[in-house]
Amino acid sequence: MSTEQEGGQKSAGASRIAPATGKLGVMVVGLGAVATTMIAGAEAVRRGLAKPIGSLTQMGTIRLGKRTDNFSPLVKEFVPLADLNDLVFTGWDIFEDNVYESAAHAQVLDSGTLEQLKPYLEAIKPLPAVFDQYYVKRLNGTHVKKGKNKRDLADQVIADIRAFKKTVDRVVMIWCASTEIFIEPTAVHQSIEAFEKGLETNDIGIAPSQIYAYAALSEGVPFANGAPNLTVDTPAMIELSKRNAAPICGKDFKTGQTLLKTVLAPAFKARLLGVSGWFSTNILGNRDGEVLDDPESFKTKEESKLGSLDYIFQPELYPDLYKDLYHKIRINYYPPRGDDKEAWDNIDIFGWLGYPMQIKVNFLCRDSILAAPIALDLVLFLDLAKRTQELRSIGIQEWLSFYLKSPQTAAGLYPEHDLFIQSMKLKNTLRHIMGADLITHLGLEYYD
Ligand SMILES: NC(=O)c1ccc[n+]([C@@H]2O[C@H](COP(=O)([O-])OP(=O)(O)OC[C@H]3O[C@@H](n4cnc5c(N)ncnc54)[C@H](O)[C@@H]3O)[C@@H](O)[C@H]2O)c1
Repeated sequence: MSTEQEGGQKSAGASRIAPATGKLGVMVVGLGAVATTMIAGAEAVRRGLAKPIGSLTQMGTIRLGKRTDNFSPLVKEFVPLADLNDLVFTGWDIFEDNVYESAAHAQVLDSGTLEQLKPYLEAIKPLPAVFDQYYVKRLNGTHVKKGKNKRDLADQVIADIRAFKKTVDRVVMIWCASTEIFIEPTAVHQSIEAFEKGLETNDIGIAPSQIYAYAALSEGVPFANGAPNLTVDTPAMIELSKRNAAPICGKDFKTGQTLLKTVLAPAFKARLLGVSGWFSTNILGNRDGEVLDDPESFKTKEESKLGSLDYIFQPELYPDLYKDLYHKIRINYYPPRGDDKEAWDNIDIFGWLGYPMQIKVNFLCRDSILAAPIALDLVLFLDLAKRTQELRSIGIQEWLSFYLKSPQTAAGLYPEHDLFIQSMKLKNTLRHIMGADLITHLGLEYYD
């Protein structure tokens, strides 16, 4: 590898990383559209039936050294990631449907693909869930754990984790369940002790997602949150994550509309183009759309989707360009479309001397097709973080913000939403832990 780099920033040397030997157990909370698309997709890829498109861990490359070195290995050959063949899936749901039945219900993957995978998918049956309809108004299921209080429910999830751990070598947990109602952090979220007391007293601020996360982090299991709920973004959970070397990251998969927003907005800002309005609307007909039709769950999603623009545009630094931005987001439940979400964005921008222009974006996407590779990558990278000496006990893995609508950061830091900064941060983190030189794109050495 070259020693002379663009930007010349030398890395301090490789971190100690335990090898990815043996089986990686993936515990998925909520075996709905996203989860079943990820599980069926991983199996289809393992059997050579399809390609893992959209997955950085499976298809991405990483440049090492100078541009003239022409050396860009696959990410999965550069860092020691778990092999897809070593993944073992299990999960919880409030319905008893196995993964085949749930995938068929979700209607994301075609029946031809599902039939080929049927015996494998049928064998994955959900464990009874921790659920309370107070936190997801539009859902009700019967495959649910009973307990005398929230502590008892957490202990039952811990027992599930311990039983699964006996069959695999390492475990990661990921929340792919429905979006819960909007919850503001309160005293119960401020320390592990307060949280544990809250579990005993059934504090209303503790939603099911927090019970799963508490169980995972208590057991040293990394936890990812695919939904916008308040779950690990509290002082209590951050403390628990650090204490037990159980990495966490931000929340809410960045898939469709927000992905494009965090690509377009940095472009406007880089060119100093003003934005006076950004209206985003969606029609969506899957179960997620039905849950988000409830105002309390929508509020959680809205907060997560709204955040990105303010941070990218920094109106306090650019008042002439962004201080009057009107940003509005709508999600409409429209059953005929199923998982095929349609998103429209109308963006009112202005340029030289204030002259107005408009941009229209119409994204006809497939929600779970976009989310599945993100869920897979988060699982694999969190497992890598857990095996990496330098990362395992720092709690928040900010380098995984790339995948999330609401990145999580250390206290006092603003979150970085720009997709390309996030991508650079992720790749530089991989270079850093492997002892390779960071790439800063300065490149003056080519002109010496
Ligand atoms: N698909 C995307 O593009 C995308 C993007 C960002 C976030 N998300 C989020 O990912 C989550 C999953 O989306 P989806 O389309 O798969 O939804 P879905 O409704 O198909 O699946 C959610 C599953 O979770 C189950 N569930 C609900 N509460 C549970 C609990 N407490 N314990 C166990 N299971 C529970 C439901 O029964 C259902 O099977 C949603 O919160 C959604 O907002 C999806």
